[in-house]
Amino acid sequence: MKVLWLFAHPEPASLNAALRDEGLRALRELGHEYVQSDLYEMKWDPIVREIASFDPDVVAEQEKISWADTLVVQFPLWWYGMPAILKGWFDRVFVKGFGYGLKDENGRVLRYGEGMLAGKRAMIVTTAGGRASSLGPRGVNGNLEQLLFPLQHGTFWYTGMAALPPFVVYSADRTDAAEFTAAASGLRERLARLETTEPIPYRAQNGGDYDSDLVLLPHLAAGRTDLDVHQR
Ligand SMILES: Cc1cc2nc3c(=O)[nH]c(=O)nc-3n(C[C@H](O)[C@H](O)[C@H](O)COP(=O)(O)O)c2cc1C
Repeated sequence: MKVLWLFAHPEPASLNAALRDEGLRALRELGHEYVQSDLYEMKWDPIVREIASFDPDVVAEQEKISWADTLVVQFPLWWYGMPAILKGWFDRVFVKGFGYGLKDENGRVLRYGEGMLAGKRAMIVTTAGGRASSLGPRGVNGNLEQLLFPLQHGTFWYTGMAALPPFVVYSADRTDAAEFTAAASGLRERLARLETTEPIPYRAQNGGDYDSDLVLLPHLAAGRTDLDVHQR
């Protein structure tokens, strides 16, 4: 496979950097090709100064995405989401005319399952300070699956990419050697199944589940309003 590994952590001695090193080593051993965008190391400029400007640094990232069949997006969970430098990568790189904006012959907008990046796969690798229970369905930190919805559904799936279930390390501020070994082997195991892992079964916008106002049909997930209604 051809993997673009997007990495957003400022410290080379961090847990995230150690996991990234393990992940890239695993990809090499599995015989996959990869390129990496280490955003802090690249001094990536996250600030949008002009909307959808195809600056050379943006085009270089778009070329990496076009080359790749799989994106791995790795970051520590900061304030319920991704670090600003990574948000700014999406804001500048996934612009109309590259990430989205495709229409079919009837003028129908292609997004959520169809679009410019359809056929690619994307997986989040993240670490969180909170313990697993506190990021579970009724945990005080919010359900991590739902916290990741903006990136997995609103970005990956919106542009057509299949979102693989995320790889998460919980309690990441208290990782001892044994826990790191377990996390590293969990990541290696997930990378070994990159090609075969079933994606999150999000509904396609144009697959018959939504009405013309883009509202889920009433008989599907009847009575529910949570974000999981957008999964089949
Ligand atoms: C600015 C900042 C915000 C954070 N926000 C969260 C959060 O919302 N939820 C959470 O579980 N942990 C949060 N944390 C903890 C980090 O996720 C944790 O320190 C990190 O995953 C550990 O990995 P590292 O050693 O590679 O940085 C935050 C940490 C920082 C520095």
